[in-house]
Amino acid sequence: MTDKLWGGRFDEDITSEVLDYTLTTDIDVRLIFADLWQDIAHVLMLGKRGIIPADNARAILGALLRLWEKHERGELALRPELEDVHFNIEQMVIEDLGRETGGHMHTARSRNDQVSTDTRMYLRRVQLDAVAANLALVDVLLSFPEEELLAILPGYTHSQAAQPVSVAFWKTAHASMLLRDVRRLRGAFDRTDESALGACALAGTSFPLDRELTARLLGFRGVLSHALDATSARDYLIETASAFAIGGNNLSRMAEEIVMWSGHEYSLVEVSDAYATGSSIMPQKKNPVVAELTRGRAGRTAGTLVQLLTMAKGVTLGYSCDLQDDKPYLWNAIDTYLSTLRIVAGQTKELRFDSARGEHLCWDNFSTATELANYLVAEHGLPFRETHHITGSLVGALIKRGATLRDTKAGAEILAELGHPVEESVLARIFAPRTAVTSYTSPGGTSPQSVEAVRAELRQTAQGHAGWLERTRDKLGTAQAATFRAAREIAAGADFAKVLDTVAADLPALEQR
Ligand code: ARG
Repeated sequence: MTDKLWGGRFDEDITSEVLDYTLTTDIDVRLIFADLWQDIAHVLMLGKRGIIPADNARAILGALLRLWEKHERGELALRPELEDVHFNIEQMVIEDLGRETGGHMHTARSRNDQVSTDTRMYLRRVQLDAVAANLALVDVLLSFPEEELLAILPGYTHSQAAQPVSVAFWKTAHASMLLRDVRRLRGAFDRTDESALGACALAGTSFPLDRELTARLLGFRGVLSHALDATSARDYLIETASAFAIGGNNLSRMAEEIVMWSGHEYSLVEVSDAYATGSSIMPQKKNPVVAELTRGRAGRTAGTLVQLLTMAKGVTLGYSCDLQDDKPYLWNAIDTYLSTLRIVAGQTKELRFDSARGEHLCWDNFSTATELANYLVAEHGLPFRETHHITGSLVGALIKRGATLRDTKAGAEILAELGHPVEESVLARIFAPRTAVTSYTSPGGTSPQSVEAVRAELRQTAQGHAGWLERTRDKLGTAQAATFRAAREIAAGADFAKVLDTVAADLPALEQR
């Protein structure tokens, strides 16, 4: 027999090499709050149902509350030799109360339902933080000043200048994309927010558990009703990683634009000095390193998704230790995604666009050629396919002369030769990038009024998400406070049923689905 909590059937202990290879205490530090909260909910339920003697349950609650205080003071350290957070806390309770009393805590559960429940509790917080960070960035993007509605930027397709757009149009595009990331995170939250506690090792238990009570004390919206599924499922976590990977990719696309556009050749935007660094050798350099790292770190979030899919795909139902590798990369993806969202918000706030440069590039790059084709449709009644051809011939002829749309004199001459005369002053108006931007008034277009309409719509969507975020955080906070209040009252001698009936009446009912 070894002195491990599971040591009864063993003659020999594991080697330190095996311990190092298998332990998760370094990773589990983030689960301490969830494990303690969960332990308390479980023991409250055990006491209420009379599954363990009330006095034992009371004493254990007292020990857990002491550990919670220690944790709050930052003094609760996990011992690696105890493998994981679950064994650590059980051992601490046993060391405090003795095995006679503390040894009752692990009745009617397993680390398999415990770890899934802990991870779900931690992930809920992270998902909410990610929603908050996205909303903060969306707010930055939607808070553009009035003048950016007409600040010109070349819009690109195929990385070639296509049609002029406004800076505000570009910002609202990214906000629109990020709000889908928020929806994805909310979807992941929805499927994370279910309790695995009470599934036990895989098959349930003969003890008369109240899984709904523990789910409500832990603030879950529902119970994962199938014990084998509850202990096996990791899709909630893969889905979360997927939301991070997609979100990371979206941020990377914005970063790529900033990196490119801040180079001399574009000179469309400048990042603030606070988000750039210099070169050790080239004194002139200002490198947009935050944007570069944003792009690079999308590799971490994408990599995590692949790691998790690969880790889980061969695991038959029921816990296998492969599954304990669900956390290390995910933790990294969490830190990467959250820190990226936050730093991108800071950087975006201070981006300086050069709209004169944008306008200049649009003139030079024939970005408004489509406007002549449209004009000939509207004013001369020609079919678009025909006007496309006429305008294409004009562009070809101008390029041969080394001219651009700016050269309205040349333009008027060529059009007259083509048999479709248009006055020079009309060309000057049609080809002005501002005219184009102002005229794209279709819903979702780049005109100031279309962008304002989209901004209003996106703001409303963002407000809806912010309301949900606040309510959800409140719900979790209330459940946690209620659980700890019940534990304190019962540890001080109050009756299980009395306290828990009152507490339960205050907590929201589980959602029926
Ligand atoms: N520490 C493990 C993990 O992180 C949970 C414990 C379940 N392990 C077990 N051997 N049944 O997934």
